[in-house]
Amino acid sequence: MEKSILITGGAGFIGSHVVRLFVNKYPDYRIVNLDCLTYAGNLENLADLEDKKNYHFAKVDILEEMALEKVFNDYQITDVIHLAAESHVDRSITDPLAFVKTNVLGTVNLLNAAKTFWKNLEGHLFYHVSTDEVYGSLPEDGYFLETTPYDPQSPYSASKASSDHFVRAYANTYGLRTVISNCSNNYGPNQFPEKLIPLVIHNIKNHKSLPVYGKGENVRDWLYVEDHAVAIDLVFHRGKLNHTYNIGGFNEWKNIDIVKLLCKLMDQKLNREPGASEKLITFVKDRAGHDLRYAIDAGKIHKELGWKPSVTFEQGIEKTIDWYLKNEDWLESVTSGDYQKYYQQHYG
Ligand code: NAD
Ligand code: DAU
Repeated sequence: MEKSILITGGAGFIGSHVVRLFVNKYPDYRIVNLDCLTYAGNLENLADLEDKKNYHFAKVDILEEMALEKVFNDYQITDVIHLAAESHVDRSITDPLAFVKTNVLGTVNLLNAAKTFWKNLEGHLFYHVSTDEVYGSLPEDGYFLETTPYDPQSPYSASKASSDHFVRAYANTYGLRTVISNCSNNYGPNQFPEKLIPLVIHNIKNHKSLPVYGKGENVRDWLYVEDHAVAIDLVFHRGKLNHTYNIGGFNEWKNIDIVKLLCKLMDQKLNREPGASEKLITFVKDRAGHDLRYAIDAGKIHKELGWKPSVTFEQGIEKTIDWYLKNEDWLESVTSGDYQKYYQQHYG
């Protein structure tokens, strides 16, 4: 095998798209998906890869040092792409410690495992997939650059900022070869329906209310998940050592506008009266410490690596709605806990 890449969090939303891209595009690489399968991890996301010779799965928690060591040994890991994390801001507000454990301690465990296993660091790469939320909140103008000072505002973003700092500290202190990318909001197939876009699609379908936090004035920059996976592939192969790359969609939306757009498109798809779904919009109590606006300047990855999004928002949102409407079983399974039965049948 040319490379043996450990992808953590591969059963989750973004990780599953990254694993699929690498397994299919690089048959000479061994791809090891390491995931402990929290509520957000789901091997059905990768059912099409089960028979691929270069794909392997390890059910391991990144907090388990010995188990990590074993995976590095068993698969002779040459590189890491680290996505495993607690990823939902609202959950970080109710249970910050879970975020410290997985995102901070888990990342440090993984860094230690890599540093120990790769006695000679030459040729290896530790890639940390991170978020634009580490930069804090923007006013109505301006963009996050790679040089923007860190200013995390939620327990989630504080934990991701901390893990980014540890990755840089391991590069500086031990000479670990690293790269980090900080991306804006992703959307697309396989996203757990606690995040805004799949939640709204799911609720419209089921005639349930659509909770909009505060006045819905907060702005996010949305990127189709497969375009993020392509950017990760480029940064992994061609990114400059120990550099950071911002990844974004050039696609800012106020939450209320995105919810109204989804209502309009879903009315058309479901043959409902125009305006029917908008009646479900309910303004609810704002998220505590809610960041006003995120917007990425993705000029560096564009100039250095030639990356830009290939899917327009119109195309991406259409694909996403179609996927959720076609995959009712997936939605039912991840929201009801039936997924555990699937896991038992396939993995014992
Ligand atoms: P997700 O919640 O969908 O998936 C996370 C995956 O990590 C799951 O499969 C889960 O089982 C696994 N996991 C969690 N804790 C683990 C542990 N202790 N050990 C092993 N596996 C564990 O997350 P996502 O939205 O796909 O995000 C993936 C990564 O990308 C995260 O690091 C996140 O911070 C980052 N990110 C996400 C977005 C976004 O919009 N979703 C944007 C930028 C960056
Ligand atoms: O910017 C990148 C980040 O994007 C990632 O690092 C996170 O992992 C990912 O979860 C996402 O964080 P957000 O908090 O921006 O995403 P979420 O889908 O939870 O919310 C998007 C916006 O919609 C946010 O302003 C809060 C609002 N919202 C969210 C939910 C779930 C609502 O108004 N109502 C809701 O029910």
